Amino acid sequence: MIFLNFKTYQSGTGQNALLIAKMAEDVSNESGVGIFLLVQSTDIKDVATTTNLEVWSQKIDPISFGAHTGGILPEAVKEDGAVGTSLNHSENRVDDFESLTKAHERAREVGLKTLIFAKDIEELEKVSILNPDYLSYEPPGLIGNKNISVATAKPNIISRAVVISKKAGTPLIVGAGVHSKDDVKKCIELGATGIAVASDVMMSDSPREELLELTKGFA
Ligand code: G3P
Repeated sequence: MIFLNFKTYQSGTGQNALLIAKMAEDVSNESGVGIFLLVQSTDIKDVATTTNLEVWSQKIDPISFGAHTGGILPEAVKEDGAVGTSLNHSENRVDDFESLTKAHERAREVGLKTLIFAKDIEELEKVSILNPDYLSYEPPGLIGNKNISVATAKPNIISRAVVISKKAGTPLIVGAGVHSKDDVKKCIELGATGIAVASDVMMSDSPREELLELTKGFA
């Protein structure tokens, strides 16, 4: 499985997000690989009505209905069509473990699936006790790297992350700098269930070719 993170790339914003979503659906159909879309909260509704792929929010806030100006309300993303949410991405970390626990509880309350990102092994172990649907290991220093991926730079850490995720009974998603089918293959061989990717696809002049290439790592 592939979590395709649209981040706030121009190619993943507004009307462009719809084009990427349709392209990803085609690639998923052609390859048989499940692709999950991590989209901006402002685009969830349109993307969810455009594609049959699962649409996830990139985050929610640990809040309920009320006075929280600017907050991302779990109920709102659910109503717009999100089926899940990621939490604690390195580019938008939750302030503390208490807030992460609260956000995770809120996601569960409204029926959203969850993926929790961790920046290292220690954090992965800590967040694994929340029992999300997916755990993700992404070393921040390699995110967006065009040449070095987590698969080539951190195979031993991935193996340790696999042990932690297996102990928790939670599938592991690995990301950061993934840009080839060999990267994907390596992550899967090491025991990951899937990969998370952004720049390789979202920054490409040929996003379809890039995404299709990544799916070949699952063959
Ligand atoms: O969530 C996936 C993302 O952080 C990885 O980014 O650009 O290294 O594929 P990138």
